[in-house]
Amino acid sequence: MKRLYAVYGFSGFGREVFPVLQSQLEHQTHESDQCEVVYIDDAATDGQILNSIEVHTFESFLKKPADEKHVVVAISDSAIRQKLINRCEQAGIRQFSVRAKSVVELDNVQIGEGSILCPFVTLTSNLKIGKSFHANIYSYVAHDCVIGDYVTFAPRVNCNGNVHIGDGAYIGTGAVFKQGTPRKPLVVGKGAVVAAGAVVTRNISAGTTVFGNPAVPLTRANIEARRDRG
Ligand SMILES: CC(C)(COP(=O)(O)OP(=O)(O)OC[C@H]1O[C@@H](n2cnc3c(N)ncnc32)[C@H](O)[C@@H]1OP(=O)(O)O)[C@@H](O)C(=O)NCCC(=O)NCCS
Repeated sequence: MKRLYAVYGFSGFGREVFPVLQSQLEHQTHESDQCEVVYIDDAATDGQILNSIEVHTFESFLKKPADEKHVVVAISDSAIRQKLINRCEQAGIRQFSVRAKSVVELDNVQIGEGSILCPFVTLTSNLKIGKSFHANIYSYVAHDCVIGDYVTFAPRVNCNGNVHIGDGAYIGTGAVFKQGTPRKPLVVGKGAVVAAGAVVTRNISAGTTVFGNPAVPLTRANIEARRDRG
């Protein structure tokens, strides 16, 4: 049985995910199976090699012989990620999840397919997380959080308990979420963006970008006001 795996996207993130996947497969693969891992990138050129690994376009990946094909999309932009996952599904290729050995998962964590959990991510207890969640290095999600589909956490996101994050939200590196409560969770709307280093203390409406401590909408007036404040 020849199984072909691909990391879709050879950006910085894709190249970080690749060795995590290789290590995962070393532990999962039966001796009788042949297993190959490649990159897919729409910008690939014929015969391209990156870090000694073949890079294919989606079309050349489809043509490559294998008994089974699996793809994980390692692209942070959730709209692009969703589009590429749809493309894979239309071609009959299912998503799989990548999880570093150092990930800590405590109790009652539900998580959808196609997730990428990078080294040193911690998921604590009673979590409901949708499909294609990306948690970059050192991020954590604490108790009773609910996270939608196609949500991206950059490195070291601190998501405390009872926070609800809508589909397609992007959370920048080092962001901190103040905890909510069971009766009043902190709610981040669909497609919201949280800037690197923001400290989120209040709900964020859908599609809004926030920044700073405490986080406020990223508008020209707020940027200037924060500068004046020093
Ligand atoms: C919030 C964010 C998405 C805005 O991006 P953008 O729309 O391209 O905005 P710009 O970078 O052009 O910045 C617009 C203004 O906001 C300010 N700004 C941007 N991000 C900021 C932040 N995190 N904190 C404080 N101010 C910020 C900029 O200084 C700039 O001010 P100026 O116009 O007076 O120079 C982006 O800055 C960000 O934080 N992205 C997350 C980065 C990250 O975590 N990467 C991880 C990679 S793995």
